[in-house]
Amino acid sequence: MLKKTAIVGLLTIISPSFMAQNTTIPVYLDESKSVGQRVQDALARMTLEEKVAMLHAQSKFSSPGVPRLGIPEFWTTDGPHGVRPEVMWDEWNQAGWTNDSIIAYPALTALSATWNKKMSWNYGKALGEEARYRKKDILLGPGVNIYRTPLNGRNFEYMGEDPYLTSKMVVPYIKGVQSNGVATSVKHYALNNQEMFRHTSNVIIDDRTLYEIYLPPFKAAVTEGDSWTIMGAYDMYKGQYASQNQYLLNDILKKEWGYKGVVVSDWGAVNNTEQAIHNGLDLEFGSWTNGLSAGTKNAYDNYYLAQPYLNLIKSGKVGTQELDDKVMRLLNLAYKTTMNTKKPFGNVASEEHKAIAKEIGEEGIVLLKNYGNVLPIDLNKGNRIAVIGENAIKIMTVGGGSSSLKVKYETLPLDGIKSRFGNQANVQFARGYVGDIGGEYNGVKSGQDLKDDRSADELLNEAVELAKKSDYVIFVGGLNKSDFQDSEGNDRKSYGLPYNQDNVIAALAKVNKNFAVVLVSGNAVAMPWIKDVPTVLQSWYLGSEAGNSLAAILSGDANPSGKLPFSFPVKLEDNAAHNLGEYPGNKEELAAGKGKDQKNPINIRYNEGIFVGYRWHDTKKIKPLFSFGHGLSYSTFEFGKAKTDKTIISQEDKITFTVNIKNTGKRAGAEVVQLYISDLKSSVQRPVKELKGFEKVYLNPGEQKEVSITIDKTALSFFDAEKHEWVAEPGAFEALIGNSSDEIKTKVKFTLQ
Ligand code: BGC
Repeated sequence: MLKKTAIVGLLTIISPSFMAQNTTIPVYLDESKSVGQRVQDALARMTLEEKVAMLHAQSKFSSPGVPRLGIPEFWTTDGPHGVRPEVMWDEWNQAGWTNDSIIAYPALTALSATWNKKMSWNYGKALGEEARYRKKDILLGPGVNIYRTPLNGRNFEYMGEDPYLTSKMVVPYIKGVQSNGVATSVKHYALNNQEMFRHTSNVIIDDRTLYEIYLPPFKAAVTEGDSWTIMGAYDMYKGQYASQNQYLLNDILKKEWGYKGVVVSDWGAVNNTEQAIHNGLDLEFGSWTNGLSAGTKNAYDNYYLAQPYLNLIKSGKVGTQELDDKVMRLLNLAYKTTMNTKKPFGNVASEEHKAIAKEIGEEGIVLLKNYGNVLPIDLNKGNRIAVIGENAIKIMTVGGGSSSLKVKYETLPLDGIKSRFGNQANVQFARGYVGDIGGEYNGVKSGQDLKDDRSADELLNEAVELAKKSDYVIFVGGLNKSDFQDSEGNDRKSYGLPYNQDNVIAALAKVNKNFAVVLVSGNAVAMPWIKDVPTVLQSWYLGSEAGNSLAAILSGDANPSGKLPFSFPVKLEDNAAHNLGEYPGNKEELAAGKGKDQKNPINIRYNEGIFVGYRWHDTKKIKPLFSFGHGLSYSTFEFGKAKTDKTIISQEDKITFTVNIKNTGKRAGAEVVQLYISDLKSSVQRPVKELKGFEKVYLNPGEQKEVSITIDKTALSFFDAEKHEWVAEPGAFEALIGNSSDEIKTKVKFTLQ
């Protein structure tokens, strides 16, 4: 608690007039009072105009506090994997500050690929420290929209296809960030599972699918993670925009889940004052008052929750009950963030932050295939290393939309490899193909000149010649952050690799057997060459330490332990949304030109229901290219036989599964024990299996450990839409334990009474 002298000192800054009275501290500033009392006191002092002012932006990224009372402004910032640079007051372009560069952390696909909850806490804590140092109060992230289609341009900002994995990985991140007195804003609530038509679509989904697949990460974020804010999405559900949606915000979030935090709109997601007032929105950002396409400068008074709201109250058409509820939520948030005198100061680019970024990158990289143990690179077998591909030299932290960053530094793959192998190796580079030579987002420039006018043939020939005379060939390609790749606002146009990469890879595979393909992307891609390529690594957008993390894996300094957070289908039609569901929207409506503007929205039916990702592959017996949960190591692990502490359980019981894991290889490494549950007989159709527990274990060569995972009936339940409740049906279940959704090593049956 602050000493009285300190409080008086604080008051001197806030309002000299309080000093004259000296002894009376207003309740809202008195830290000996409860937050509830302080909120009520502040509320009672505020005018109607001050209350309404608090509900909407005053600049691109800030909202006003109450200047007269010394209640500070809220400063928000993107985003999920690093703190966004400062933009001008009312522009997206740069403010031109020189003190706003930061560390970029691996994108969230990489974080979830670690399957390591501790990493998620480290990530959140470090990122929150950077946000705090940059004086931000609300961090616009993490993103937890479920991976429904590999074409979604924003999948790299999310955590994959599984609601359980996403829920477990997001909670520590939130707690880590918020331990700094910086709120998270978990986004985009809800059903924003594609970028195409994000402003002009209406999602049609059944309740069971909504509750089983798309809502759990948000529920975990607010109920377990206690995210102090949540961001509404752009799309519509039941014909109402998500950021002003009665069903999502009032009925589910605030009533069912008892959410007491602040609902923030996505930028420009509000378009109706009455709905914004009544349907659960608390804080409006980014509106354009004449529609979403054209902005009006400094139009903050014209926001839907600004003057129009005030007019409705003044004319008596609307009461003040909703207003006070919104302001109370914002004041509560203020006491946790802006008015929290105990929050730390934060720091930027500490050695610890760099180490965390590097380690998460290493743990997130997934070794998809390593036929003949091409990796790790062994210089005894030869030291001529060819690095081929544009992504080895392309800056990836600039671009991709709102998560674009201005970094202190970004270690590129080629530089990371060169610095790791130093003089011991002869590292040569060939471009192989030209993809995107851009490198600017909102005025942040990568500073790279990637222009190369050579023809595709010339580039290919150079690469092939280099590959022929090398001992190792490392191709670093994939997607990038330019439009229609992994980028906000648009989806990818096709599932294949862009820019002639398939041809380059196929040609390289023919001339060198020591060949590894490294894919830098946030999405699955088609791999028509997979049979000819011995080794494939899924590297994500790894941020500032990208090159160092990759070099550690290539060299074997770090042993791969990442696991896929989503399935890689062989072809697009093998993905449920493309096979059975609607993407990018209803076909007839698409043909009729729907979705072009908000007056003509397009419907997207999630006909595939709960069968998303591996749930679909399993059920339809469609073999994926690489399964959810898949990831190899340079070591080998042996699973013992699973045991259970009970074979019959009641609805109230917990049940524990134990399995012995042994590192049978020659290197220290980590394995992820994955527990899937299968309902052997059910009155409703259920997925073949669903992830319900996981644990990452580190083992030295020869070492073994017992791993126990405990579940209760929530792991056995499905959502009964008619009853509107979760039901665990009595009967036989099976626990399937393995190291991938398609590598079940041991099973054990049990019965629920
Ligand atoms: C994005 C959000 C982002 C916001 C502010 C929106 O367009 O959808 O994710 O936080 O802009 O930049």
